[in-house]
Parts: sequence; structure tokens; C-alpha cells
Amino acid sequence: MKISMPVEIVGTGMAVPERVVTNKDFEARLDTNDEWIVKRTGIRERRWASPEIGSLTLATQASQRALEHAGMTADDIDLIIVATITPEHTLPTTSCELQAALGCNWCQAYDLVAACSGFVYAFGQGAQNVHLGTAKNALVVGVDTMSRIIDPEDRGTAILFGDAAAAVVIRKAQDPERGILAMRCGADGGRAKTIYIPAGGTAEPASQKTVDERLHYVRMQGREVYKFAVTQMQSLIHETLEDVGMTPDQLKLVIPHQSNLRIIESACEKLGLREEQVLINIDRYGNTSGASVAVGLHEARASGRFQQGDHILLVAFGAGLTWASALIRI
Ligand SMILES: CC(C)(COP(=O)(O)OP(=O)(O)OC[C@H]1O[C@@H](n2cnc3c(N)ncnc32)[C@H](O)[C@@H]1OP(=O)(O)O)[C@@H](O)C(=O)NCCC(=O)NCCS
Repeated sequence: MKISMPVEIVGTGMAVPERVVTNKDFEARLDTNDEWIVKRTGIRERRWASPEIGSLTLATQASQRALEHAGMTADDIDLIIVATITPEHTLPTTSCELQAALGCNWCQAYDLVAACSGFVYAFGQGAQNVHLGTAKNALVVGVDTMSRIIDPEDRGTAILFGDAAAAVVIRKAQDPERGILAMRCGADGGRAKTIYIPAGGTAEPASQKTVDERLHYVRMQGREVYKFAVTQMQSLIHETLEDVGMTPDQLKLVIPHQSNLRIIESACEKLGLREEQVLINIDRYGNTSGASVAVGLHEARASGRFQQGDHILLVAFGAGLTWASALIRI
């Protein structure tokens, strides 16, 4: 949908755990190998948090870096949105814990649950708030500690996911031509069980039985998700550009959710996007779920892959199933 939301990104930051897990590390205990993983997914390594580090630590580090980059202090923030499916605790929200960890005032803070699409959904909500004036400076964070919810004995999922956080600070832009020009968010709950965690919620609370049966881990129908993702990513980019009458060659950069290199390449090739127009970092981090697009945005900004005036496109899909895109003029 074509919109006009003049906002600017004034700070970005990211954090990943120190521990690097390579494809070789899986070979000893799973029936898999480096060649298969690289060929089928593009992933070479990912970061997994040590036991004392969870989503709050990663989110705090990323947020502090984003605030520093923005030249702001915690007091300047009056809205915090954390996109995550792996909160520090089930209750309260990670955003409230983050507010305290950063030393912010009693600003509004909430978590947003839309899996791998979460950061793009949250970015839109942060932008809406600063645009409407219900917040001046919004801190939007994408964080997931996926290593805590994947089954280490399931080769279909264990190799795919990593842990990370990234944060952005958004405020109103003076130039009405800047900010979000188009946005599309959607969901298909009819396909909820293509990626889900069977137990731990109200449907089946945690018990000895659910742990014994490994029902607290992510279950995924990889092929189904793959087919959905390739088509969805391509049509989402196409339709978002169509909303404003733009063509792929006018984009400086697409920052796609990093779920599988083949998904990204296939969608982007069909749209005629050139290699330098697409941000790829899946080889180093794997799929970091809610952090994925946020990490891409931070790395692209930090390495100068876009400048003021450029058009960039954020695009994501994930469990739910959900999807989201945002066309931004920097
Ligand atoms: C998971 C995924 C990499 C599997 O790749 P694929 O090419 O679709 O492979 P398939 O699922 O068809 O399985 C092919 C074979 O590889 C096997 N396989 C699965 N994971 C494996 C692994 N890590 N190592 C070796 N073999 C593996 C399967 O068991 C299957 O074996 P079979 O033919 O004997 O039954 C791919 O489906 C994918 O990326 N899906 C999307 C996942 C995603 O994006 N999830 C998050 C959404 S936000």
C-alpha cells in the first residue's frame, strides 16, 4: 500500500554472541555435512549464545550501540518495540526488561510477535508512532536466541538458525520525501503448523511429558515453507514497488530475511535484481529470525551500502505464516 510516513533512521546497532558454530561442528552428532548445508542453504556458520546470555543481553547491547550511533541517551527514547519469538521470559515482555536495562524513563514498551517478519512489522509500528506524534524517538529491536528453541537432534532445523539482535532508532524526518513510501504486511494462519512449537503454550503447557517428547522445540515442514517463501518474496517485492510505480532497477538495496540463500537468489533473479542490489549475510549468521532484517539493515548502513536519498526495501516472511515489506527512502 502506498503511504507517506516521513521518518528517518538515526541510529543502528547490532550484537551477536561470541561463539561461532560452523557446519563442521554438526558433523560429529548429526547425519549432515558442510557441503550439504552450504549447497542447500548458503549457511557456513552461525552464532549461538552461551548459557548465561539470552535475548535481553543481546537486545541491550544492540540498543546501546544504536543509541550511541544516534547520539542519544536512554532518556530520549519514548517508545520501545521488541520483535521476538524468544523472549527473555514468557512474562513480562522483553521490551519492559530492556527498558529497565537501558535505564529509560517509563516509556511505552511492548513486544511484537510475528516471527521472522517481526522486525519489519515493528519498524512499521515504530514509524507510525513517530509519524503520528505518539512517540518522538522510537527504539525498534529485532532479537532472537533461536539456539534455545531448536532441537539439536533435528538436522532439518538445527543447522538453519542462529542468535542475534539489532536495533534502530527512528524519529520524524523534516523532509516529507523521506521515510516509508509503501508497506505490505499480511498473514495466513491457515498454514500455522508449517512452523510451530507444539507445547509450552496454553494448548499444552510444559510438563515432563512435553520435554520427554521434545514438544518444546520448533517443528518445521521445510519443503512447504520453501515453496511459500520463494513465491511470497518475489511477489511481495514486485507488489510493493508497483504500489509506488517503481521498478527493481531503481532500488539501491533489498534487505531480505536471511532464511535460505536459494530462496533469496531465486526470488531476486526472477525480478532481475543485480547481485550488488541484494544484502546477503546468511553465510555468517544463518537464520536469526526476528533479528535477521535488522542485522542486514545495520550492516548495510555501517558499510555504506546506501546513502541519503537512496531507496531500500525490507522484505521478510516467517512462521504464522506472516510476511512484511517496507519501501524506504533514506
Ligand atoms: C530446510 C531446507 C534447507 C531443506 O532443503 P530441501 O532442499 O528442501 O530438502 P528436503 O527437505 O526436500 O530434504 C531432502 C533430503 O535432505 C535431507 N536433509 C534435511 N536436512 C538435512 C541436513 N541438514 N543434512 C543432510 N540432509 C538433510 C532430508 O531428510 C531429505 O532426505 P530424504 O530425501 O532421504 O527424505 C529447505 O527446505 C528450506 O530452507 N526450507 C525453508 C526453511 C525456512 O526458511 N524456514 C524458516 C522460515 S522463516
